[in-house]
Amino acid sequence: MRKKIIAANWKMNMTVAETEGYLENFRTHVEPVNGVEIVIAPPFTAIAKLSELLGGSQKISLGAQNMSSEMSGAFTGEISPTMLRELFVRFVILGHSERRLIFGETDEVVNKKVHTALACGLRPIVCVGETLEERDGGREKEVLETQLRGSLAGVTPEQMLGIVIAYEPVWAIGTGRNATPEQAQDAHAHVRAVLASLTDEATAAKVRIQYGGSVKPANAATLLSQPDIDGALVGGASLEPIAFSEIVKAAVSK
Ligand code: 13P
Repeated sequence: MRKKIIAANWKMNMTVAETEGYLENFRTHVEPVNGVEIVIAPPFTAIAKLSELLGGSQKISLGAQNMSSEMSGAFTGEISPTMLRELFVRFVILGHSERRLIFGETDEVVNKKVHTALACGLRPIVCVGETLEERDGGREKEVLETQLRGSLAGVTPEQMLGIVIAYEPVWAIGTGRNATPEQAQDAHAHVRAVLASLTDEATAAKVRIQYGGSVKPANAATLLSQPDIDGALVGGASLEPIAFSEIVKAAVSK
């Protein structure tokens, strides 16, 4: 049984001051919830504050939205994995489509970051997903396979167990148009099959695959009840503490 994992990707939103009020509100709503892993990935500037407020919480883990593949040095504007570890960050989102499409991150770059994260004890949330043009051209499965093979090259079966995959179709991100539960399940089953070919069936059966793209309280339960959907990576709806807590609650025993 894979434990559901619900993660907030705040993207470039939320100041330090806003983070405090958010967490207080969110915590009261998720306090009674058990059996779901929760991750919040704030912008870098709010990580220290959130880390202090969480104080090593077992219920809510801290995530980062990106990191450098290098450990230190002359990389202006970058943040290293050791800096994240110092603030008790446990997860790091890698290869988000916004990083790939706006900042030109390739599978090779993502792969390098995956290996650095694993070596530093951070758990990567590796994002993959096709564009609308690729889906309309019937190429979504091929695109997912290429992204997975490239981003996860050289990852051992043991390391794979520490990785979370997020399937985020680009056309569903921030558009209000989520993939249907059937479309998402079909893609997730494909992702799992590719993971099995990269490792083995038993390993692939244990890896958690999140869906991301316009997840909201109204569609979370149906998406999360699909057999291969093991969680959600939430953008817009995660900025609102009550909406995000409802998504967390929708994951209980799904
Ligand atoms: P939205 O939930 O705003 O569609 O964003 C999804 C996403 O990109 C999460 O990483």
